Amino acid sequence: MRNFHAGIIGATGLTKEQTIKAVRAYGGKGLDGLTVVDLPDPGQPGPGEIRVRIHASSLNYHDLGVVSGVMGAAEGRIPMSDGAGVIEAVGEGVEEFAIGDQVVSTFFPHWLDGEPVLADFSTTPGDGIDGYAREVVVAPASGFTHAPRGYTHTEAATLTTAGLTAWRALVVNGGLKAGDSVLVLGTGGVSIFALQFAKAMGASVIVTSSSDEKLERAKALGADRLVNYRADANWGETVRRLAGGRGVDHVVEVGGQGTLTQSIGAARIGGHIALIGVLTGVAGPVPTAALMARQQRLQGLVVGSRRHQQDMIRAIEATGIHPMLDRSFGLDAISDAFRFQAGSGHFGKIALQVST
Ligand SMILES: NC(=O)c1ccc[n+]([C@@H]2O[C@H](COP(=O)([O-])OP(=O)(O)OC[C@H]3O[C@@H](n4cnc5c(N)ncnc54)[C@H](OP(=O)(O)O)[C@@H]3O)[C@@H](O)[C@H]2O)c1
Repeated sequence: MRNFHAGIIGATGLTKEQTIKAVRAYGGKGLDGLTVVDLPDPGQPGPGEIRVRIHASSLNYHDLGVVSGVMGAAEGRIPMSDGAGVIEAVGEGVEEFAIGDQVVSTFFPHWLDGEPVLADFSTTPGDGIDGYAREVVVAPASGFTHAPRGYTHTEAATLTTAGLTAWRALVVNGGLKAGDSVLVLGTGGVSIFALQFAKAMGASVIVTSSSDEKLERAKALGADRLVNYRADANWGETVRRLAGGRGVDHVVEVGGQGTLTQSIGAARIGGHIALIGVLTGVAGPVPTAALMARQQRLQGLVVGSRRHQQDMIRAIEATGIHPMLDRSFGLDAISDAFRFQAGSGHFGKIALQVST
């Protein structure tokens, strides 16, 4: 936590007696370890920094791993990788932003552009460093971008992790184009964003889910074909058949160990599989001969760069996509929010209201 500078702060009128509300995670105690605390106000931004009032965050599977102790983050860490809000003060030398701008955080505050350079979460807010379950943050300006025009803070807070991962999988790495076919697994945050981006860009989409009711909701969002992976043990073959027997051009693979073999079968010869998630486990056998024979491209990825986020936001403004929001929880109810996520009852994104 930064030292507090005495006196009036920027345009905010705050005094040094003030505190902010935040949450600390003690993963050793699981979700019961999530504790609401008062922290000293972080004060004025230094050179190159901005002061942001965080209004909203959103839950990701990664955050669940942090708060439940699976990711091995430091005890007492302030969780949440996603943060959106309003700039309250700008430090010397910051020209990109002004007081009052609506902004959204980036997953890798130091990966601005170009090739990925990190293979860990040591710089990621809410994991390697403190995240956005706090009312105010003072941070380098490069850790934020402008939010899309017309977005609420809650909507903007869904973009940092889930939105950008779906965008990178399909557009940056996949080179998605109109007429392509896409398979998305399940109806969580990343998958529903992938459905929305794919439809907005003229692709056809096959969605799998454990729930017929969720499949109907995916259809309402434009999904062309629906497969219940609980009811259909050979869903990969079914997807290939539904994609004209040829298979899909892109798979948004969020399952990992338990789903990859069928995803390889569902993708066309020469198709692209974005290996994103580990919902079914972190290691397991890969049918290497099938992957080779089908001449597919299996691409691992972790979210994206600041430049990717800016490109995605431009596309969102051009297409008018708005995220699919499920339930919203207050900061005091953060453990209930994660219990709701762990129950997999949600469709799309779960939101957290950080400050009013
Ligand atoms: N690499 C990255 O950059 C990156 C970024 C974000 C997320 N991820 C990973 O991607 C995965 C999804 O993240 P998320 O935040 O979108 O999670 P989430 O919102 O919690 O979504 C979970 C959903 O996944 C579906 N699911 C679970 N098991 C499945 C299976 N065997 N087959 C198909 N779908 C299944 C379920 O959908 P139904 O209820 O419809 O069955 C469930 O509701 C996680 O492993 C996460 O760590 C990776």
